[in-house]
Amino acid sequence: WSFYAPLIVQINRLKKEKDAVILAHNYQTPQIYHGVADVVGDSLQLAIEATRVHQSVIVQCGVHFMAETSKMLNPEKTVLIPDSRAGCSLSESITAEDVMAMRARYPGVPVVTYVNTSAAVKAVTDVCCTSSNALDIVNRVEGDTVMMIPDQYLAKNTAKKTHKNIITWAGACEVHETFTAEDIAELRHAYPAAKIIAHPECPPEVIDAVDFAGSTAAMIDWVKTTKPPRVVMVTECSMSDNVASETTGVDFLRGCNICPHMKRINLENVLWSLHTMSEEVTIPADIIGPARQAVERMIEMSR
Ligand code: 13P
Ligand code: SF4
Repeated sequence: WSFYAPLIVQINRLKKEKDAVILAHNYQTPQIYHGVADVVGDSLQLAIEATRVHQSVIVQCGVHFMAETSKMLNPEKTVLIPDSRAGCSLSESITAEDVMAMRARYPGVPVVTYVNTSAAVKAVTDVCCTSSNALDIVNRVEGDTVMMIPDQYLAKNTAKKTHKNIITWAGACEVHETFTAEDIAELRHAYPAAKIIAHPECPPEVIDAVDFAGSTAAMIDWVKTTKPPRVVMVTECSMSDNVASETTGVDFLRGCNICPHMKRINLENVLWSLHTMSEEVTIPADIIGPARQAVERMIEMSR
């Protein structure tokens, strides 16, 4: 921490000078999560908090689609991302043209789109969802059949809990799709007394094998309220690091993958971002309105 301290001090000073707020996802490193973030959370919490901030500048410590969500909810504010190359394999897996082709194939079927998508995809969507409200949103949209895109695993995990017929897309999170039921069996063998929890972007056979599945925020809450003596968080590695320093009496065991996109953001480029007021996130005028509607509908339906 003494190594990071000079950067943390400079960032926190510049934040005040520039009237900036830092929104950070739960997968950010501890030095960002604990050192400079004003708000931390899962995708839904960050989207909701983005509607409440009073500062004129938002620095998004997360991936590009998260910065776009903040921008569409705050078109008059300056939204910065310290490295615009911070993408997401789910977001890359589908285009607005793909969604229009699905709409033509399944006329009248509502499109529920995971927030892990571009603004252009959100703009041709009926309502967005996150991993924390997916089941609720699917149950609340009209009709017995719903398109749920682009994460095939979140869709399949949701399909197991709803009576609705779900049409999927072949996208996947590169961090979570590699976990297997065999991995969970090996973890159980290695750590018989440990609880194992996972993110719903994991394949269904992984979710079936774990003790709890939920969004990043739901996993953190579960650990803090359940306080298992030993736990494995089957998700991005920074999660355990961030929660471990806030939770006593819980032994965090490794069973995680790194998201290379989330890890593009670091203290050095956060400082650079505030100094240079870059990289600014913009969304084309014809896209921002309809994309915002899909996100606002989700926030409304999650209340
Ligand atoms: P959460 O909404 O659960 O934070 O998930 C976002 C994400 O990118 C998980 O890989
Ligand atoms: Fe995208 Fe997966 Fe990284 Fe989340 S963890 S940002 S879903 S690639």
